[in-house]
Amino acid sequence: MSRETWTAVDRYFSDLLLPNDPILDAALQDNAAAGLPSIDVAPNQGKLLNLLATIQGARTILEIGTLGGYSTIWLARALPEGGRLITLESNPKHAEVARKNIERAGLDHVVEIRLGQALDSLAQLDAEGHGPFDLFFIDADKQSNSEYFQWALNHSRKGSLIITDNVVRNGNVVDESSTDPSVEGVRRFTELVAAEPRVSATALQTVGSKGYDGFAIAVVTEEK
Ligand code: SAH
Ligand code: DHB
Ligand code: MG
Repeated sequence: MSRETWTAVDRYFSDLLLPNDPILDAALQDNAAAGLPSIDVAPNQGKLLNLLATIQGARTILEIGTLGGYSTIWLARALPEGGRLITLESNPKHAEVARKNIERAGLDHVVEIRLGQALDSLAQLDAEGHGPFDLFFIDADKQSNSEYFQWALNHSRKGSLIITDNVVRNGNVVDESSTDPSVEGVRRFTELVAAEPRVSATALQTVGSKGYDGFAIAVVTEEK
């Protein structure tokens, strides 16, 4: 099986199940025009994030890694009236493109973009007393996944969902001798999740238009 087949299958399901969406299409176009890397979640993965947030009844979402706001829009659309999403991004150009995409989606009153290194922004959110959040989407620099997960757990409630993107990395996650900081980061993160008694977790491999990768999903099962 090849990426061509995976892409055709993604297209088959997306054409049928994901209604034509000029706002998300425009976001991807503007990302490309601004030279952003095309590493947003795929459309059917964005819809999965949206469904998970809906199933969970999330009212507060924290996203780490905004890029052009594509996953942000999918997630924010699942929020009920009064819901809020905070998204963290270190690259000012990415944040600027995201701001316009989110505004076009009519979600600027729902979404707050915080510019800066995510670890600094998280410390700031903590100082401001934010949390608990109902859902986290961790999708920034993979070497910091453990720190992001730990922060999420510390700012969760029983039932919060912690979703982490890109945990398979083309299969490289099983390469114990890899010195790629992203792979090391994902392995450290997975071991941390495995050792954490307060969550119940799984991870899934995915193939599709974005290649071969995967998600980890953890549910917080106990109050702090
Ligand atoms: N969630 C997006 C994709 C995010 S790509 C989507 O699916 O649409 C990862 C993003 O994380 C990039 O925009 C990158 O600039 C940002 N990033 C990387 N390291 C970061 C850090 N330390 N703090 C904040 N953002 C970071
Ligand atoms: C990369 C980051 C992502 O968030 C993603 O979905 C795919 C690739 C990357 O840094 O290579
Ligand atoms: Mg990702």
